[in-house]
Order: sequence, then structure tokens, then C-alpha cells
Amino acid sequence: MKITAHRGGSSLAPENTLAAFNKAAELGCEWIEIDVQLSIDEVPVVIHDQTVERCTDGSGAVSSMTLDSLKSLDAGLWFGEEFRDERIPTLEETLLLARNTNLNVNIEIKLYRQDDLVLLCEKIKKVIIDLDVEASQILFSSFNIEALKYMQYHQPQIRRGLLVETIPANVLLLLAEIEAYSLHCNYVFLKEQQAKLIKKSGYQLYCYTPNSPQQVSQHWDWGVDMMITDVPQAYINILTYDKFKLINSN
Ligand code: G3P
Ligand code: MG
Repeated sequence: MKITAHRGGSSLAPENTLAAFNKAAELGCEWIEIDVQLSIDEVPVVIHDQTVERCTDGSGAVSSMTLDSLKSLDAGLWFGEEFRDERIPTLEETLLLARNTNLNVNIEIKLYRQDDLVLLCEKIKKVIIDLDVEASQILFSSFNIEALKYMQYHQPQIRRGLLVETIPANVLLLLAEIEAYSLHCNYVFLKEQQAKLIKKSGYQLYCYTPNSPQQVSQHWDWGVDMMITDVPQAYINILTYDKFKLINSN
């Protein structure tokens, strides 16, 4: 039973900020998931939405703003006064924090319409190479299979996970095509038969974003390997409780 902190510990701190990543580390998570896009001056930054409205005090499209403009925004205040002055992190800052806190990073390559796929992939690749990040510390994921194909060719040593909402009929073909490590799907639509097929075919199966362990109590039995959740603390409590029961029953 494995857990990824979705956008960091995003129920306890503003999503996709260093505060959220630190929170995930404090909770003892092994993995965080982050969304990466490019600023207009081509710096990979960590933010989910196409625009900055929801998670900052600014407005406008991420892809139309320089890193300096993005950094001038407050990315914490919307979540709570104690997070005032939190900033949109760069991928570089995030990977450095991950290294210092022993977190592994699921980098979601976030491509909105009009975004330059090659440029985003190249800039992500450069940060990883410049920081000399271990391939085992990273997993790429994307809804855009072309981005994963690009990474397969240019950074083959880093594992790839295909993101889907529902599982398409040709899923095994798609996974084979990118030599995928994992399939990441919405837990709401996953069926037992599909889960079993993916597992039988040798892939890791991840589900996003069940925020209560009760929502996926059966999914573990179907073979799901990882839950990507905003509320890792809910699962960690269960894990700790199970361990406690095990120790005390021996
Ligand atoms: O990686 C799982 C999940 O993050 C995909 O959807 O929209 O939250 O990035 P979204
Ligand atoms: Mg994401």
C-alpha cells in the first residue's frame, strides 16, 4: 500500500508549494506529485492551473508571465494567513527540496493547448540533468502521450506513467508504445476487471485522487499499487494503525 501526496500535502498547505512538499515529507510520504509548466521566459514552474487566479493573488495565464512576475505573487494566502508569502516554486527548487527531504517526485508534464511540448520537455530534462537527479527519484506522468514519447526517447532511464481519466480500450497498446512503468487513472471509473488486466500485464497501477481511504477500500484488493491523494495523512494513520495491530498481535 503506497501513497503519493498529490500536489504535496495539499490538504494541509497550499498545493504545489514548498510548504506543501515539506508537509508531505513531515508526514513521512515517500512520493509527491507536482504539475510542471513553463513561464514565458522558459523556466519550469510548479503550478496546476493554466492561470494563476485560483492559487495566487494575481491574474493571468502562467505561460504569459515571466518567472519574476510569477514569483511576485503570493501563492499561500488563498489557503491561509499562516502561508502568506509562499511563492510558486520552480522545478529546480522543488527537486532540491526533494533531495534534502528524501522525497521522490512524480513530475506531471502539464500541457495546455498551445503549449510547446518539446520546449517544456527539454527544459524539464535540463533541470534534471543540471541537478544530477537520480532517475529512480523521478517518475514522469502526463495525459499527453506525445510528451511521454519524447521523454522515452530523450531520457529513457526515467520511468513513465500514462495518465488517463478512464481506461481506453487500447490501453495495453498505448502502455507498450511508451514502455510505460505505470498507468495512472481516476479511481472513480476503475473497474475490477480493468485493474486485474493492467496488473496481469505487468504495469504498476496508480489511482488519483481518492481523498478518503474508504473510497478505495476494494481497490487495493484489485491490485492497485498507489493512491495519489490530497490527504495522505488519512492513509498514513491507517498504515500506522495496521502496523500497531500487527506488532501487538505477535
Ligand atoms: O497525477 C494525477 C493528477 O494530478 C492528474 O490530474 O488535474 O490533478 O493534475 P490533475
Ligand atoms: Mg497533477
